[in-house]
Amino acid sequence: MRALDLIIRKRNGESLSGDEIDYLVRGYTRGEIPDYQMAAFLMAVFLKGLTFDETRDLTRALIRSGDVVDLKGMPGIKVDKHSTGGVGDKTTLVVVPLVAAAGVTVVKMSGRALGHTGGTIDKLQSIPGFRTDLDLEEIKELASRVGAVVAGQTANLVPADKKIYALRDVTGTVDCLPLIASSVMSKKIAGGADRIVLDVKVGSGGFMTEVATARELASWMVRLGMEFDRRTVAVLSSMEQPLGNAVGNALEVGEAIITLQGEVKSDLAELSLTLGSQMLYTAGAVSSPEVGYEKLKELLRRGEGLEKMRRIIEAQGGNPLVVDDLSLLPEAADRVDIKAPATGYVREIKAREIGWVSLLLGAGRLRKEDRVDPAVGIILLKKVGDYVQEGEPLAVLHVNKKDFLPEAERRAVEAFTIGSEAPTPHPLIYEVVS
Ligand code: URA
Repeated sequence: MRALDLIIRKRNGESLSGDEIDYLVRGYTRGEIPDYQMAAFLMAVFLKGLTFDETRDLTRALIRSGDVVDLKGMPGIKVDKHSTGGVGDKTTLVVVPLVAAAGVTVVKMSGRALGHTGGTIDKLQSIPGFRTDLDLEEIKELASRVGAVVAGQTANLVPADKKIYALRDVTGTVDCLPLIASSVMSKKIAGGADRIVLDVKVGSGGFMTEVATARELASWMVRLGMEFDRRTVAVLSSMEQPLGNAVGNALEVGEAIITLQGEVKSDLAELSLTLGSQMLYTAGAVSSPEVGYEKLKELLRRGEGLEKMRRIIEAQGGNPLVVDDLSLLPEAADRVDIKAPATGYVREIKAREIGWVSLLLGAGRLRKEDRVDPAVGIILLKKVGDYVQEGEPLAVLHVNKKDFLPEAERRAVEAFTIGSEAPTPHPLIYEVVS
C-alpha cells in the first residue's frame, strides 16, 4: 500500500477500505507518512467527502491509535458530554457537577481552545492548582470517589486525532462533516463512557452555520455511537451569539460558578439544564428529559451542583475556595469599555468575532506554542434584543498585554450590529437528534 495511491483515489472520489484508512492513520501517527501527504489526503476528503462506512472506519482507526479507558468494572452507567465548539460555551462547568449531583457518574474528556472557540481544559486550568493531566487509573479513581472527573487528552487517548486536528487547523480542513464526526466520536468512545450527549452548535460562532448541516452532523455522530455500542443523543443549540456573558478562561469559570450558585434564568442555565436532562435520561436515571430538567433545576436552586463543583475542584488539586470567592481566580490588570456607537436594539453579536477578540487579548493561542492568559477576555453587558443608548458600554475587555488591543477594540465594536428595530430572536435549542 502507498499513501500516494490512496490520496489519488480519494481525490478521484473513490471509496477507501477500512484497511486503507487504517494504514493512513497508523502511518501518520507513527511519523511514517509525512504532514504534506496527510494534508493532501485531508483536503481530498474535504472536497470529495467520506461515505458513512469510511467515516466509521476512520473513527475506528483513530480510536486504535491510543489507549481506551475501560470503565466496565465500575458500577452504574457513565455519561460523557461534548460540544462541537463555541464561544462562551462553559456548559460543561455547570453540567458536569449538576449531573453528578443527581447521582449519575460523569467521565468527561475535554479539549483545549481551538481557533476562535474556547476549550474546557484551558478554562479549568485557570483555577489555581487544578490538574487535568490525569492517567487512566486516576480517571477511574476520581470517577468512583467523586462521581465526576474532567480529564484532558493527555492519557494517550486518540493521539492520531491530536496530530490530525493540529494539521486540519492550519490546512483549512476543520469544518468538514466526516472529519468532525470521527474526531469527536473517536475521543468520546475512547473515553470509556457508556452514554454520550452531544451539543452540536449551529450558527456563525460554531463550525456548522446551517441547521440542516448541523442536523446531518448530529445524525452521523448518533449513528457512529450506535456502531460502537454507545447510546448517543445530540442537542442542536444556537451559536449565533456567545453563550452567556463571559468569554475568556477565568471569566467563564466565574460565570459558571455564579450559575451553580442558583442563577437559573440565563441562556447558559437553560442549555445546561437541557443537556443535563438528556444525560440523566439517556443514563436511565429519570423517566423523561422533562423530569430530568426539573430535577436538575431543583438541584441547581439548592446549590448541590455548587457543592459537587467544590469536590471536583478539590479532588483534581484545585483551590476549592474559588466557589465561594471569585476573587481567588486570576484577574486582568486593566478594563476597557466597548461603547455603543449608536442608540437602538442589539440585533446581532457575531460570536466568531467575539471569540477572536478574546483570542487576541491572549485567552487562546495564535500559535501552537503560545501560553494562554487565564485572566483576560470579554464580558458582554448587552445581549441580542437589548436596547442601548449611544455611548453606553456594550462590553468590557479584561486586558493584560496590550499588543493587539486596538484591533481587539475595533473588532469588539464591529461584532455588534445595532438597529432601530428589535430583532427576531433565534431559538436557543433547535431540536434533539436521537
Ligand atoms: N471538536 C473536535 O473535537 N473535533 C472537531 O473536528 C471539531 C470540534
